[in-house]
Amino acid sequence: MTILVDKKKKLFTLQTKNTTYQMKVGKFDHLYHIYYGKRIDHQDLSYLMYNGPSHYVPYPHEAKNRVGSLTLLSQEYPTVGTGDLGSVALDLENYDGTRVVDLKYKNIEVINGKYSLEKLPTFYANNGEAQTLKITLVDDLTGIEVELFYGVFGNNDVITRAARMSNLGKKPIKIHKMQSMSLDLIFGQYDLVHFHGRWGAERNYERLPLSHNVTSFGSNYGVSSSKENPGFLLVGKNTNETDGYCYGFNLVYSGNFRATAEQGALGQSRVTLGLGDDQFSWKLEPGELFESPEAVMSFSGYGMTNLSHNFHDVIRNNLCRSKYEKARRPVLVNNWEATEFDFTGKKLLQIAKAAKGIGADLFVMDDGWFGNRYDDNRALGDWFVNEKKLGCSLNELVKKINAMGLDFGMWFEPEMISEDSELYRHHPDWALNFPQRKALLDRNQLVLDLSREEVRDYLFERISAVLDSANVSYIKWDMNRPITDWYSKNLTKGRQGELQHRYILGLYELFGRVTRKYPDVLIEGCSAGGARFDLGMLSYEPQIWTSDNTDPINRLGIQYGTSFFYPVSAMGSHISDSPNQQNGRVTPFSTRAAVAMCGTFGYELDITKFSDEQKEQAKKYTKLYKKVQDMTCNGDYYRLASPFDRSNDLVAWQVVSKDKSESFLTVVVTNVVANASFVYVQLRGLEASDNYEVNGEIYSGAALMNAGLKLGRFKGDYPSQQIYIKEV
Ligand code: GLA
Repeated sequence: MTILVDKKKKLFTLQTKNTTYQMKVGKFDHLYHIYYGKRIDHQDLSYLMYNGPSHYVPYPHEAKNRVGSLTLLSQEYPTVGTGDLGSVALDLENYDGTRVVDLKYKNIEVINGKYSLEKLPTFYANNGEAQTLKITLVDDLTGIEVELFYGVFGNNDVITRAARMSNLGKKPIKIHKMQSMSLDLIFGQYDLVHFHGRWGAERNYERLPLSHNVTSFGSNYGVSSSKENPGFLLVGKNTNETDGYCYGFNLVYSGNFRATAEQGALGQSRVTLGLGDDQFSWKLEPGELFESPEAVMSFSGYGMTNLSHNFHDVIRNNLCRSKYEKARRPVLVNNWEATEFDFTGKKLLQIAKAAKGIGADLFVMDDGWFGNRYDDNRALGDWFVNEKKLGCSLNELVKKINAMGLDFGMWFEPEMISEDSELYRHHPDWALNFPQRKALLDRNQLVLDLSREEVRDYLFERISAVLDSANVSYIKWDMNRPITDWYSKNLTKGRQGELQHRYILGLYELFGRVTRKYPDVLIEGCSAGGARFDLGMLSYEPQIWTSDNTDPINRLGIQYGTSFFYPVSAMGSHISDSPNQQNGRVTPFSTRAAVAMCGTFGYELDITKFSDEQKEQAKKYTKLYKKVQDMTCNGDYYRLASPFDRSNDLVAWQVVSKDKSESFLTVVVTNVVANASFVYVQLRGLEASDNYEVNGEIYSGAALMNAGLKLGRFKGDYPSQQIYIKEV
């Protein structure tokens, strides 16, 4: 049993293989959080709760002895107006203008299997591997009912959460904030690890002491953003990759989000995570429901690598329904950095021929194939093939590429519209725009109002028409700007605060239609590189272009930060040109290949210009990738040396197959020094008592992991080494 309910004590315990999560209904029927951490069996842990006096903090009227202030007690789902003075999970306005919702326990239900949400993507269970706990809370005075859902993936040490509100009252209410989860920890000192960034430098690792200040971060970009990722960690002061306790939190959502972390007055810690609330409001009529996006959390008592493995496994097994989640991903060649907009059908065929020559599986035609799209100032929205530019129909082009033995993929940016487009000329009101103001531009483009059904219908019709006209097996679904000008002509004045969420609901609805109609098409996400790298997107597309920055040295940091939550199989990563297009750095082919292999591998440069030597190198690395691909994408990933630790002269990582029979080590030297010692690396994840062959020598797993492996001395600019390790 993963869910234990003691009805008499009103004590609810979620057990996973290695963790325990406990809640209890208190004296005044509030739901308290008791414990989340290493597994503890058969114990009511409510003795931990604060039961001292309330000094100058409000307590419920019934608490005659002044004990029971909700600001001192750990809450499961704190709300405004009840005496909890921290960052709450729920803030709403009743019809009479009062801003209070006092949720009391009503009932509990244990359900076999995993709950789902009506309009939002969620993790799913395969054959009975998850259970659901549903706790219903109600405010009798207003008729506000909140159901808290817990999905327990016992074997993965993962718990998902979501909240659903029903207005059972007689008048409408307005929701101002409704988080997916809140977690209170009664005591302990923590650091907060979050992943911030910008275009070309996504998901930088930052570790800060959790303090009494509220640390609040999130996105107001309309997408989950490169500024902050929704995934973050709370870790013990001494926690590192291999030791110590840590919590990870993430959100199955692709739009604005808000996370908070703070210490309370008595040293308790609280984190909340959910929808962005800066400009959010939602009117809920009597009888209506509102569901929060799903949050996902995990605890590891054994360091951050273990925590990452929990997330990697549940993402690979329980999130995306695409058949490609499990299937081998094609090695692709994309023409963007080779040609940008300046291509013809003939040039594409030349690239495709060269792609076949180096062993690739898929050719991808990027931006510039439609309407009048000769540069990035125009034509977004006009999803009609430019046959003049291609010199033939799409079907003819694809047939030629298929005849070479390659699959064909293409780029779309469905959510956008250019002012200089046929679509805009016919439907200027389809773009998000404040009345009487000029909309803000980014890359000279505007955003379509995806909350509108007719807009989504148009996009579905256009995408379908293109896909139906040729044998397309891959889509790169791009989205290249933050969303601003939040005004929809379809919503009334009082409902404009709903638009940001309605946009994402519309986006998911469109994704649902496309993926249901084209289950055999692999979708790779992209958003000015990696600005929408989140679990919402990964529910529909198994891989996402990690960053427009393809410099392998910058990518070390980007891929390192991404790896805390997201598996290698989710990270699009390609070999590009040297000097690099974004930062001009010169790096060896071997290092570009080594870094690109830590992801879904491909090429992003003009491979028709390869010298014979480069062709041979490309063939060699494509072959090597295919040899290690299953292990890299499906195995366990270990961060061995961090690019964010300035004292390191190298960055190293390792993947190990689930059965521990093979492993693949990569070392990139970022600072070559004269007269250096040898490079030593302690491997991880091997079977201590088994023997492994490394470069023709035999070592025990224990030796490789404890004593370490001795590598060479490195010379030159950004050298690297990849080592295949096999059990013997
Ligand atoms: C974005 C993407 C690139 C490329 C261009 C095309 O910048 O991140 O990979 O597809 O758009 O315009």
